[in-house]
Amino acid sequence: MTQLADLQSRYASADFLSFTEVAPDFITLKITTPFSTATVALQGAHVMTWQPKGQKPVIWLSKAAKFAPGKSIRGGVPLCWPWFGAHATEAAYPGHGFARTIPWTLLDARKLPDGRVRLEFEPAMNDTARAQWPHATSARNSITIGQELVIGLSTRNDGKAPFQLGQALHTYFEIGDIRQTSIAGLEGCAYIDKVAGGKLKKQKGAVSFAGETDRVYLGTTGCTGIIDPVLKRTILITSTGSRSTVVWNPGAEKATKMGDFGRQGENKMVCVETANAADDVITLAPGETHRMTAQYRVIKHG
Ligand code: BG6
Repeated sequence: MTQLADLQSRYASADFLSFTEVAPDFITLKITTPFSTATVALQGAHVMTWQPKGQKPVIWLSKAAKFAPGKSIRGGVPLCWPWFGAHATEAAYPGHGFARTIPWTLLDARKLPDGRVRLEFEPAMNDTARAQWPHATSARNSITIGQELVIGLSTRNDGKAPFQLGQALHTYFEIGDIRQTSIAGLEGCAYIDKVAGGKLKKQKGAVSFAGETDRVYLGTTGCTGIIDPVLKRTILITSTGSRSTVVWNPGAEKATKMGDFGRQGENKMVCVETANAADDVITLAPGETHRMTAQYRVIKHG
């Protein structure tokens, strides 16, 4: 039996869920709830789209995104795990870890009594991943789809020695125009400005955008708003288990070089990432579990 046929038969009675093989060996799930619809790729347990009823999509997916085993999807909610950015010592290891490019196993998909749908995934570690991460670890990604989208990534240290965990929910949000978008909730925070060679700066007022922006905000308190006067909405991000927030937009030049942003895609997206990065990397003792969550919801203006 193919993997697609197996999933379809296991979840034959789940009227809220369907599976499609969008490219060879690349399966996506479509979830329909009374409040919203979503698509999730099995690779990376990667939320690709989320659209509350009567609203524009909240999650941005590049029109030029590539769907292929082992390639990261441009857009959606890539999971950066178990390290964020470059690996601390091994330059050849993939940036942002391997979680987004390996298959994940669907452990459970269920409708909650209030109509929301919850999916539970665990990573299917392959030999390369195991070689790059030789720590006994269990991880779960739990995705709850309703009026809000809630993603919870937990990691347990099953070994006998502590290890360091870096991660991010690298969420791409859909916006009307980056030049008119601002981000509230980071006022007064120190940040590492990667565009300025890692200089430490302090945020004054709301974050606004004029070209490439790549920052790790430190000591963040878990509530951020993307204020979008063009789409007339604010996307509220509430995080737990995280004290760092990454804000990223590649700007025109870098987006063109990346090749999978689509025409002027960089004007229509911003990444605001709930993270454990920089001084917020977590030391996980044997037997300990760390859970990081983000909840997304939309507030319409006027
Ligand atoms: C952000 C980083 O989180 O991800 C940026 O801060 C990086 O430096 C961006 O360019 C995109 O990374 P990738 O690996 O998905 O192209």
